Amino acid sequence: MSGAQTKPAELRSRRRRGRHSCWDHLIIAPLWVAYDANLGTLLRTCDAIGACLAVPRTRHYQDALRVGDTLRGRRPCIHWVAPTKEGWIDEQRSAGRRIVAVELAEGATSLPRLTPARGSTVLLLGHEHQGVPDEVLADVDECVEIPMVGWGASLNVAVAGSLVAYRLAGLS
Ligand SMILES: C[S@@+](CC[C@H](N)C(=O)[O-])C[C@H]1O[C@@H](n2cnc3c(N)ncnc32)[C@H](O)[C@@H]1O
Repeated sequence: MSGAQTKPAELRSRRRRGRHSCWDHLIIAPLWVAYDANLGTLLRTCDAIGACLAVPRTRHYQDALRVGDTLRGRRPCIHWVAPTKEGWIDEQRSAGRRIVAVELAEGATSLPRLTPARGSTVLLLGHEHQGVPDEVLADVDECVEIPMVGWGASLNVAVAGSLVAYRLAGLS
């Protein structure tokens, strides 16, 4: 980098003229994610890439998002999932959205081979311990796996979801 340095606050205000309104291109759906911190991180990722967040309409998720929200109330669009997760996924499919799961699974697309979303897409993320339920995984249009070379069995779900979401949004 060269030339006069622009202050971070100035850069921020130049880049962010306002919040996105719901345009349904990408919906991050951590339907089984339980921990407040992970939901808060995913909310920030949604804000950063102009995606929406979808979570079950339960007290647990409402409280978790309140605790995990560091955006000071300037939240991205939230879709409340009800009455059941499976029913909501079926509705999204019927509305023409692609259902993509982020999971370690046989036959999954490796992240480097994933191309940006061309149509409206729902991105499913699994529970911190149990992952995405098998019966849901069996029905998705695509599953994406992030290659790992270390000893750990998996990544933190908010990290995994953010990596894939950036890619689908065409920003990485
Ligand atoms: C901590 S992992 C769950 C691992 C769980 N013990 C299992 O084996 O299914 C939580 C979620 O993060 C995502 N995840 C973590 N690492 C991943 C990877 N390398 N590739 C794809 N998804 C990953 C998936 O959505 C997964 O359901």
